[in-house]
Amino acid sequence: MSFNIAIDGPAGAGKSTIARAAARSLGFLYVDTGAMYRAIALHLLRNHVEAENTDKIEGLLADMTIRIAYSGGEQQIILNGENVTSQLRREEVGNMASKSSAIPKVREKLLQLQRDIARDNDVIMDGRDIGTYVLPNADVKVYLTASVEERANRRCLELKEKGIDADIEKIEQDIRTRDFQDMNRSIAPLKQAEDAVVIDSSRMSIPEVMDKIVDAFQESL
Ligand code: C5P
Repeated sequence: MSFNIAIDGPAGAGKSTIARAAARSLGFLYVDTGAMYRAIALHLLRNHVEAENTDKIEGLLADMTIRIAYSGGEQQIILNGENVTSQLRREEVGNMASKSSAIPKVREKLLQLQRDIARDNDVIMDGRDIGTYVLPNADVKVYLTASVEERANRRCLELKEKGIDADIEKIEQDIRTRDFQDMNRSIAPLKQAEDAVVIDSSRMSIPEVMDKIVDAFQESL
């Protein structure tokens, strides 16, 4: 039997940093489901399809393949045979992913892939609906959140480190819009699972959050 840790929470709460580090220390596979939704969004952007055009999107999904692979422990997303991992972090792709992920057929396309990976491997999987919908029987569930201001700050710093100019007010607005869309869609909205350990990372360092997750893991054994 595989061991599954689910980490859910809003954009910018630090899920991927924490999940990647925790996966490394536990020897688990890190599965970033947001990257899968971003890959679909990239495909839609490349095909100049609006998120509202559900019929066209459903047609594109039928001919699209998504796989994941690992290189040096890092998840790679293979879209129609092309490794698109380096193109997924752009704001434009994230904003499109937040809209297109509300389409039931988009979620259906990724659900089985996510469940299969978790069945066959010990994983830390992060996303919005992992503990509530994708892996309702996960051994450990964490809901990781932080204030909007703190999340915008972190995103700004991250972009500045990469030499990208960032407008904090625009980033804060994007985060609010994305939270609203993720929490209010009718299918698999972002919400806390009843049995999740809630961590607010606003005033916590990465090692402090890691310790809490490792504690939750040990308590579950
Ligand atoms: O986590 P990340 O910002 O990469 O996710 C991009 C978008 O994909 C989110 O805003 C959300 O709408 C969607 N998503 C989702 N379910 C997941 C993971 C991501 O709907 N499990």
